[in-house]
Amino acid sequence: MPKAQATSPGPPPPSRRGVLRLLYGATWLALVGAVGLGLGAVLRLVSSGGGPAQPGPVELGPAQGLDVGQASDHGPVALVRDQGGYFALSLVCPHLGCRPSWQQAQGRFLCPCHGSSFALDGQRLSGPAPKGLSHVALKITGGKLVAYPGQPVDPATRLEA
Ligand code: FES
Repeated sequence: MPKAQATSPGPPPPSRRGVLRLLYGATWLALVGAVGLGLGAVLRLVSSGGGPAQPGPVELGPAQGLDVGQASDHGPVALVRDQGGYFALSLVCPHLGCRPSWQQAQGRFLCPCHGSSFALDGQRLSGPAPKGLSHVALKITGGKLVAYPGQPVDPATRLEA
C-alpha cells in the first residue's frame, strides 16, 4: 500500500498584524521622505539669500520721445512721463501678478486677467487689485534710462531728463 505523501503547507498567509506592520513602515518611510524634501527646499531657499530672485535692471533707452501724459511698456516696467518728469512703474498687477499694459486711447493701464485699471501715475482706478502699481527706481546710466523693478521708491519720485 503506497504511503500517503505529506503535503507541504507552504508559507503561511500573511497575518493581519503583518500587513499592519508593513503599512506602518511604509507610512513612516513616506513621512521621513517628505520631511527630508521639505528640509532640502528650506535649505536651498536659505542658501540662496532667503527670497525669490529679484528682477534685474531694465534698459529703457534714451530719455526722449515720450510726451507728457504718455507711457511705454518695457517688459516688467513702464516708463511714464507726467508734468513732473519721468518715473517707472512695475507692471506686476497687485491682484494676482498678471502684466497690465498701457492703453493710450483710454489713458490708463489695463490688466488683461481680471480687468483692474490704473491711472497714469499707477493709482488703482477699478477692478479687484487691492492697490495701485508700484513705483520703482529709475536712473540715467550712460545717457540711457534704466529701471530697477526690484527697488520700490516713493510715488512722488520723478526724474527730470
Ligand atoms: S491679476 Fe490683474 S486684475 Fe487680477
